[in-house]
Amino acid sequence: MIVGTPPNVPGNRETMTQVLVDPFGRRIEYLRLSVTDRCNYRCFYCMPRKGACFGNAGDFLTNDELARLVRLFAELGVRHVRLTGGEPLVRRDLAELAGAIGGFPGIDDLSLSTNGQLLGRYAQPLRRAGVKRVNISLDSLDPAVFAHISRSGDLVAVLDGIDAALAVGMTPVKLNMVVMKGINDREIETMFEFAMARGLDLRYIETMPVGPQARESMACHYPAASILKRLRRYAGAGLVPAKGSRGAGPARYYQIGSGPAKVGVISAVSRHFCAGCNRVRLTATGELVFCLGRSDRVSLREPLRRGSSDADLKTAIHAAIARKPRRHDFLPDGTGAISLPMSRVGG
Ligand code: 5AD
Ligand code: SF4
Repeated sequence: MIVGTPPNVPGNRETMTQVLVDPFGRRIEYLRLSVTDRCNYRCFYCMPRKGACFGNAGDFLTNDELARLVRLFAELGVRHVRLTGGEPLVRRDLAELAGAIGGFPGIDDLSLSTNGQLLGRYAQPLRRAGVKRVNISLDSLDPAVFAHISRSGDLVAVLDGIDAALAVGMTPVKLNMVVMKGINDREIETMFEFAMARGLDLRYIETMPVGPQARESMACHYPAASILKRLRRYAGAGLVPAKGSRGAGPARYYQIGSGPAKVGVISAVSRHFCAGCNRVRLTATGELVFCLGRSDRVSLREPLRRGSSDADLKTAIHAAIARKPRRHDFLPDGTGAISLPMSRVGG
């Protein structure tokens, strides 16, 4: 394991701890925190219509437990925490958790990924708690198609949620559209118009072979290259690679002319982005998952509930990070998929 000293962690020298660097030299600065595996939707590429498997209530970490782990990650150099799920807003005490996390020294970016259904109600308290930016899933602008994909979602509520996020000043507000052949691919251009008209960033996402619906997802896989071809045809020569493309994330970004809104294509399957991976995932039951495309994971709940000290938990986190794999094993036919549902590991 390579170790170093975190650059800007406030506090005196004695409280500084070694930052997290995996065996391939990647600094881990981004924690995706899946605060619940429950969801008010049943998107067909993510969960079965009936009989979705959820964790045991007793295994879920309390806000205090989650906050403690996040504080330790922050002390180990994590800068960005994204609240995700499942659907994070079905966790009723989310704003309190966000408030605690946002106050930790070192955390300079607190974001949220949501399906938007409950955002109209919670945008304001979350913004007050320090959530500055949000990614909202929006797979269709057609109410019938939206209901077909999500099985229980309400498009009007999500559109309200987008407006609420903008109204409370979350920025950027990004839209995520999972593109599926024969289901919503005819909306690639209309979604583009919708996002650009509101100055919202838009990411098109390829389906990934993850979880119980891996085969169903890949049966309607629509490759990123085809999405880009469609966009180029539609937007013409004005579509240019975005300057200073944001972050170490998986999207390739483009913009129309001088922007400001950006459009990205996330191609997890057809193009690897693992070399620059700076993230790990923590599930609501305290499991550290290293990669969306691998099953390897380590339970931090067990040492946490055994009463381990902060120092021992940090050692456990370092030992876990030493197991982060080089890359995912997705294969386009849906094999190589991991069995852990996306709703558990925080998509
Ligand atoms: N393939 C691609 N994207 C998925 N998501 C959930 N399951 C899959 C899958 N199998 C997406 C959600 C959301 C993001 C967090 O992950 O729609 O936009
Ligand atoms: Fe819920 Fe997101 Fe899964 Fe859809 S993709 S069922 S919104 S967790």
